[in-house]
Amino acid sequence: MCGIVGYIGEREAPEIIYGGLSKLEYRGYDSAGIAVLQDDGSFDVRRDAGKLSQLGKLLAVEPLQGKMGIGHTRWATHGQPNQTNAHPHKSMRGRIVLVQNGIMENFADIKAELQAEGVVFASDTDTEVIAQLAEKYLEAGYPFVEAIRQTLGRLRGANAIVAMNLDQPDTLVCARLGNAGGVALGIGEDEMFLASDIPAILEYTNQMVFLENGQMAVIHQSGFEVTDLVGNAQAYEVSEIPWDPIAAVKGEYDFFMQKEIFEQARSLLNTIGGRIDFEQHTIDLPTMNLTPELVDRIKKIYTVACGTSYYSGLVGKFLIESIARLPVEVEYGSEFRYYDPIIDESVAVLSLTQSGETADTLAASEQAREDGATIWSIVNAIGSQSMRTADGYIAMQAGPEIGVASTKAYTTSIIDQYMLACVLGYMRGTVSDEQMAQHVQDLARVPDMVGRVLDRDEEFQELAQMFADANDFLFIGRGINYPTALEGALKLKEISYIHAEGYPAGEMKHGPIALIDETMPVVAMVTKDHLYEKMISQVQQAKARGGTVIAIATEGDERIQAEADHVIYVPEATPLLAPVVNVIPLQLLSYHIATIRGCDVDQPRNLAKSVTVE
Ligand code: AGP
Repeated sequence: MCGIVGYIGEREAPEIIYGGLSKLEYRGYDSAGIAVLQDDGSFDVRRDAGKLSQLGKLLAVEPLQGKMGIGHTRWATHGQPNQTNAHPHKSMRGRIVLVQNGIMENFADIKAELQAEGVVFASDTDTEVIAQLAEKYLEAGYPFVEAIRQTLGRLRGANAIVAMNLDQPDTLVCARLGNAGGVALGIGEDEMFLASDIPAILEYTNQMVFLENGQMAVIHQSGFEVTDLVGNAQAYEVSEIPWDPIAAVKGEYDFFMQKEIFEQARSLLNTIGGRIDFEQHTIDLPTMNLTPELVDRIKKIYTVACGTSYYSGLVGKFLIESIARLPVEVEYGSEFRYYDPIIDESVAVLSLTQSGETADTLAASEQAREDGATIWSIVNAIGSQSMRTADGYIAMQAGPEIGVASTKAYTTSIIDQYMLACVLGYMRGTVSDEQMAQHVQDLARVPDMVGRVLDRDEEFQELAQMFADANDFLFIGRGINYPTALEGALKLKEISYIHAEGYPAGEMKHGPIALIDETMPVVAMVTKDHLYEKMISQVQQAKARGGTVIAIATEGDERIQAEADHVIYVPEATPLLAPVVNVIPLQLLSYHIATIRGCDVDQPRNLAKSVTVE
C-alpha cells in the first residue's frame, strides 16, 4: 500500500521523511522516493525501485538536504515499479513536485490534452499527469494554491496528493479526494508534519488533524489552514493520539479487524494496481506464469480453500465460468484431500488462502500436484508456503491481515479471481478486446464504491444496536450472492458467537423457513440482478412468518422500502462484482454487534488466525 510523509520546519527533512516511510513499510510497496526543496532554492529528488533500503543506499551516496520535503512508498498502479515511475514526480519545467496515493481514472484524456500542448512526459504514471496539469495552471498565471485547486477540479477517481512549488518555498499543499487513504497533519512546535498513516509521524507529535474527503490543507512551518476544494475555510478537530508504538499500528481503530475493514478501499486499489494498464485496457498477472500451451491444456479448475477463503472461491466459480468459460468445482480443503478427485494434467488446482499456511488447503494442493495437477495460488502472506510452492500465484497485496476474522483478504481474493478469469478468458478467446476494456473499467470503480459504503458506518452501528441481543440470524442470497450470505453468517458467528446460518434463498421452503419467527432476524441480499424478483418473493415469505428482514439493496431501489424492515443501500456494481460491495455492510454489522456484546473481535475464542494443523 502506498505511503506518504511530508515535513516543513527547522530540522533536516530527508531524515524525518525517510524514518517516517520506514514505519509504513509493513503496508507493502515496490518503490520509494524523497524530494526536498534545497537551501539554494532548487528541488532535488532521490527515488528507486525496490525496498526503502535501496533508497537509503542512494541517499548515503548522494545525500539530500533541505527543510521542506515529501516522500512516498509506491504500490505500482500505472506503469511498472521502476525508478522512472517512482514518486515524487516533477513537472516538465520543474516547478511542481508531487506524490499521490490512489488512482486517477481520467488520466489518459488529460495526458493526451497536455501532450497536444507540447508537454513531454517522463513516466507512465497518472501521478505525473497531475503534476504536469498543476504546472499548466501555474503557467497560466494561477498562484500555487489556486493552481492545485484547478487541478483537483479536473481529477476523477480516489486520490490523496501532496505538492510543493518552486516559487513557494514555504508551502506544502495536500488534498484528499475519495477513499484512497487518509492524510494526517501533525502539529509540531514551529514545524509541521503530514502522513498517510499516523505511525509515520507519531514520534514527533501526537496532535493531529485528519482531512476529510473533499478537503485540502495549505501548510506552512508555523501552521496550516483547511479548506474545501474551492477555498472555503473548513472547521477541523485536533485529535490527541494516545498510542504506544504497538497500538500505533492499529491507527485510530479499536481493533485490527476494524482497521482492516476500513482499509479495503485501499487494499482493493493495491491488488488492482500494477496489474491493470488503464490506458491499454490490459491485465497482467506475470507471477501466474500462464503460457498459451498451459492455458490450452487446462480444461477444469478445482478451487480448494477453507472458511472465508472457501466462500471467496464460491464467488470465483461464477467469475471464471462466466468470463473464461472454464468449469470450476469449489471444494473444502479438508474434504478434497480425503476423497478421490479426478485429477490429471488437464486440471488446475487453485488454492485461495490469506495465510498461505492453512494445513488443509496446503495438503489438498500437494496431493493434487502428485496426481499431475497444475497448482495455482491466490495468497496474501508474502513468502508463505502456498506462495513458494505454487506453479503460479497472485499476491493479494492486501497488506498484513491481523484480525482472526478475514475481511480484506476476502474482497481482494474475489477481485484477483476476477482478474484471473479475464486473463484466462482473453487467452482462451472468450474475452474480446472490447469486453476486456469493460472489465477493466468495472474493476476500476470498485475501490471507490467500497469506500462509499465504508463512509456510512454510523448506519451500521445503529442497526447493530437493534440486533445485538439476537440468539440466531439467517442470511439468505441467490446466485453469486449466495456465498455473500454464507460469508456474512460466518463473520457474525465467529466474532459475536451468535448462531448464524447462510442459505440459498430458494432453499427456504425446503426446511429453514420453519425457523422464522419474530426472534429471527433475516439478512437478505436483494441487490439488482436477474434474481431480484425472486429475492423480493423470499423477503415477502419471511415477513409473512413474522420475520424481521434486513435487506442489502441497490441505491435508488424504492420498492424494497415497502418489503423489508430495514434497508442498507449499496452502490450498483456490475453483478459479477456485487459480492465485493455487498459484503461490506455484513462485515461492519458483525463487527459492531460483536463489540456491543463485548467480544474480543481480534482474537475470538477457540480460533486462530492461521489453522496450520488439521
Ligand atoms: C475467516 O474469517 C476465518 N478466520 C477462517 O475461516 C479463515 O478464512 C480460514 O481459516 C482460511 O484461512 P486462510 O485464508 O489463511 O487459508
